[in-house]
Amino acid sequence: MKSRVQFDNRQIIVALDFSSESSCLGMLEKLDPALCRVKIGKELFTRYGPSLVREIHKRGFEVFLDLKFHDIPNTVAGAIRAAVELGVWMVNVHASGGQAMLEAARKAADDNPAMKLVAVTVLTSLSAQDLLETGVNGYPEQQVLRLAAMTAACGLDGVVCSAKEIELLRNNLDGDFLLVTPGIRPSGDDASDQKRVETPGRAIAKGADYLVIGRPITQADDPTGKLQSIMKEIQSKI
Ligand code: C5P
Repeated sequence: MKSRVQFDNRQIIVALDFSSESSCLGMLEKLDPALCRVKIGKELFTRYGPSLVREIHKRGFEVFLDLKFHDIPNTVAGAIRAAVELGVWMVNVHASGGQAMLEAARKAADDNPAMKLVAVTVLTSLSAQDLLETGVNGYPEQQVLRLAAMTAACGLDGVVCSAKEIELLRNNLDGDFLLVTPGIRPSGDDASDQKRVETPGRAIAKGADYLVIGRPITQADDPTGKLQSIMKEIQSKI
């Protein structure tokens, strides 16, 4: 397995969880595209659509389009083709959509092999009991590993996972399989509503490839200064 302990600035993806376009673009004024990538999700995309992504691109940022597609294979393939046309850097689907859906997504993404296609395994908001109620027995980690292995077998680039799953997945899957990890908090920062958090340095040292970080950066007085201090912390741990 190749060493995961490497870091370049743009392994940090800033989650732009804003409700308005002006707040979102205002935040970009305070960030440097050489130091991070950005993520937009369902709220901003539903409100402003592809034109917002184009505005973000105009400002030089690469975009993770976090829409978690989950539908029949033909529909997901169409959505992935639309993401390719939009020119996003990364897009995601739900692994629980099944093998045929993942393969259709992979094939559709091949029009732009540089675009990263990753899958969500088990939402971290789901407990073992929640999973049981949907018919999934056993530990959530078993389901995470099962879905991650299927995602890898279907040729996707990686998964979104919680920091507590990094070692499990790193130990069981190929070293090139990307692990994208939210729930990151610099030591000393408020965890807010995140329950199981990890520091940026420890997450990278354990084998995460990309860290999704929202409020610790977007609510800082100096977002770029905060990014730089996070990078320093990471460099000190690897
Ligand atoms: O502000 P914070 O750093 O908690 O933001 C984390 C981002 O990662 C949010 O956009 C959230 O929706 C997303 N996310 C998460 N946990 C997951 C999957 C995604 O926090 N399991």
